[in-house]
Amino acid sequence: MNAASRYARITGTGSFLPPRRLTNADMVSLLAERGLETSDEWIVERTGIRARHFVEDGVNASDLALQAARQALQAAGREASEIDLIIVATSTPDMVFPSTATILQHKLGAAGCPAFDLQAVCSGFVYALSVADSMIRAGTASKALVVGAEVFSRILDFKDRTTCVLFGDGAGAVVLEASDTPGILATELHADGSHVGILCVPGTVAGGQVLGDPLLKMDGQAVFKLAVGVLEGVARSVLAKAGRTEADVDWLIPHQANIRIMQSTARKLKLDPSRLVVTVDQHGNTSAASVPLALDHAVRSGQVRRGDTVMLEGVGGGFTWGAVLLDY
Ligand code: UT7
Repeated sequence: MNAASRYARITGTGSFLPPRRLTNADMVSLLAERGLETSDEWIVERTGIRARHFVEDGVNASDLALQAARQALQAAGREASEIDLIIVATSTPDMVFPSTATILQHKLGAAGCPAFDLQAVCSGFVYALSVADSMIRAGTASKALVVGAEVFSRILDFKDRTTCVLFGDGAGAVVLEASDTPGILATELHADGSHVGILCVPGTVAGGQVLGDPLLKMDGQAVFKLAVGVLEGVARSVLAKAGRTEADVDWLIPHQANIRIMQSTARKLKLDPSRLVVTVDQHGNTSAASVPLALDHAVRSGQVRRGDTVMLEGVGGGFTWGAVLLDY
């Protein structure tokens, strides 16, 4: 395979949701205990979310990543020992350091290959896939494991009804391999740090103490407005880069945060609503895990088939956003 014809192709997908499932009715009860009001109607109408999964105490992002990674490896017909690059996209790592990727590597029973975390919040998986694509095309890796894994339940403020009903825990993974046919056709990543404050966990650790507030803060309307604009723009530019048009897109798999944002993007791209992959109803916003969770669901349910053209899109804290266009 010479450099000019070296591409990266997804050869297997996997995902995992922790067993503890909370419906909107469960959230109504949970918030009522804290003197807060919400309703199934409000959550469904504003977001499309019907349920989310939360980990039990003691379960970490690497545990969810491990389950998703094992499934992806099995689907690709690969052993962990064959993997030569591990990237975990997460904003809720097991520890401050070392990376969740090295912890995952150890749990997989592998050692030696480079392993690192990538932090781009809800754009994390799209960022990680783009980095792995570049490393494969450059010849520095040939079989990558790319994972998005989050335990957002750990950073939710259950006294803030405007955020705690929106997020959940989960993981998704792909095996990405060098190939002489695409594969990934084009990628595009962006960030604008002037919007740090609209979606953040402002706390940190110093001198053995938590400094600042370690819980998630979001200006939902500001994020909503920015997301709708950038998702359309990045979709158009990644298509142009690949020499394709909206009409070539078989499946749109955007970050699963809010059904209204996702439908608006599909509408602007003039995609038939049936071409939009939706899993946000079942797991809420799982940040970096949402795109690979939705991709795995679409593959296993028979929606996405070999040869289909798929647009993955991420958007979130930073502000960050990006897209990956691929032939599955
Ligand atoms: O992961 C990164 C990407 N993140 C996103 O894409 C999130 C983007 N933002 C959103 O999805 C939406 O802005 C939200 C779902 C967060 C909020 O929807 P909204 O339509 O923008 O609602 P709002 O913030 O304008 O609030 C409307 C009303 C308010 O009451 P008043 O002031 O109109 O009386 C809120 O207090 O809804 C109230 N409200 C709630 N009511 C019941 C806020 N949260 C709740 C709740 N239950 N959980």
